[in-house]
Amino acid sequence: MWTETLLSGKRIVLGVSGGIAAYKSVELLRLLQKAGADVRVAMTKNAQAFVGRLTFEAISGHPVFDAMFDDAAGHEIRHINWAKGINVAVIAPATASIIGKLANGIADDALTTLLTAVTAPRLICPAMNTDMYENRSVQRNLDILAGDGFILVEPDEGELACKTTGPGRLADPQKIAWRVLGAVSPKDLSGKRVLVSAGPTREPIDPVRYVSNPSSGKMGFAVARAAALRGGDVVLVSGPAALPDPEDVKVLRVVTAAEMAKAVLDEGDAADIVIKTAAVSDYRPVGVSSHKIKKEKDTLVMEMEKTTDILAELGRRKKPGRILVGFAAETREIEKYARDKLKRKNLDMIAANIVGAKDSGFNADTNAIQLFFADGRKEDLPVIDKFSAANIIIDHVAAMIGRKNGT
Ligand code: PMT
Repeated sequence: MWTETLLSGKRIVLGVSGGIAAYKSVELLRLLQKAGADVRVAMTKNAQAFVGRLTFEAISGHPVFDAMFDDAAGHEIRHINWAKGINVAVIAPATASIIGKLANGIADDALTTLLTAVTAPRLICPAMNTDMYENRSVQRNLDILAGDGFILVEPDEGELACKTTGPGRLADPQKIAWRVLGAVSPKDLSGKRVLVSAGPTREPIDPVRYVSNPSSGKMGFAVARAAALRGGDVVLVSGPAALPDPEDVKVLRVVTAAEMAKAVLDEGDAADIVIKTAAVSDYRPVGVSSHKIKKEKDTLVMEMEKTTDILAELGRRKKPGRILVGFAAETREIEKYARDKLKRKNLDMIAANIVGAKDSGFNADTNAIQLFFADGRKEDLPVIDKFSAANIIIDHVAAMIGRKNGT
């Protein structure tokens, strides 16, 4: 899901201070670059005891800024020039010392001086021994930084280099990279409650068998993540999916269509926007056998009954102003069936995908979606990664609630 266009055109300063976790900032640099960002590195002299400047210069393709009065910079006023026009600055790892300096307005080296000149969002990612991290002065300084608008990326808990166990380990570079993306994303869903459904459902036949479908949850999790990064207050109702909870999303895990119907309809009342990506079983076996069905007959006939059509129910209960988006997985006549569901389920938009097409639909990392709108419009998206497709869907939802992309 972390693709080469997520941060394209973004200019980032990566600040590295002197802690053992400095080696992980090399991985963070690569992740940010992989997503298309232009990254420059500023580091303290102490950081260079852990990772040499040459490593960052070779990977970033830019000189490292580590000295205020460096002859190589000529007449360039680096701390001002580098601060101008960047989209975000991220300090990883941030030591107790740099946290203290920034909280108290001390700018006495290249990194602190540059960060004092930055007007773009600044993320601070502490990494240190647990006792140091929990020290009153460090916590007080972090509170000051939060009050000054810094975005805190909490450290992870675990075994630290000093063999203590507790909070203080630098947050995972992938998690920091997502927070960087969040910092540069438009907040056009802020103040909106967004309900997303994802994954398959499983309808039990007996204690060891069930009816289901190949949905992995990737599409719905991408929609939930995109909505959260854009400021939405997101609840994700997911059927069985082997995916971790996306950051900043409340996740409710369910198994059957009945459980999904209950969770979605309960949460749906408070939602401003509902996006139903889940592949819900349309039928379930009538009566679940309490024991494993034995292989006695040559054929087995199973009676099935309809499940609740959750989306149609949401369409019936739709309040003015609520945006309702459905998905449709079709094997043929995609436009005809998608438009029928759009109308019948009282939707504002439906995202239709062809089942069986290459790189699309169930369990793929990419999707080829056709969007149909209540006013008759249609938009064909090319094969793109599911997170990019999710963002396009959110662009349309934001436009429907009267928020322009980028505001
Ligand atoms: O999870 P992935 O592996 O990433 O795959 C993504 C996907 C293929 C599952 C996704 O892109 C997709 O197409 N989701 C909808 C699948 C589907 O069940 O479509 P449908 O045409 O059967 O249902 C239409 C709509 O009604 C859907 O929004 C569905 O959530 C909803 N529905 C269907 C049946 C039911 N009982 N209740 C519902 O709410």
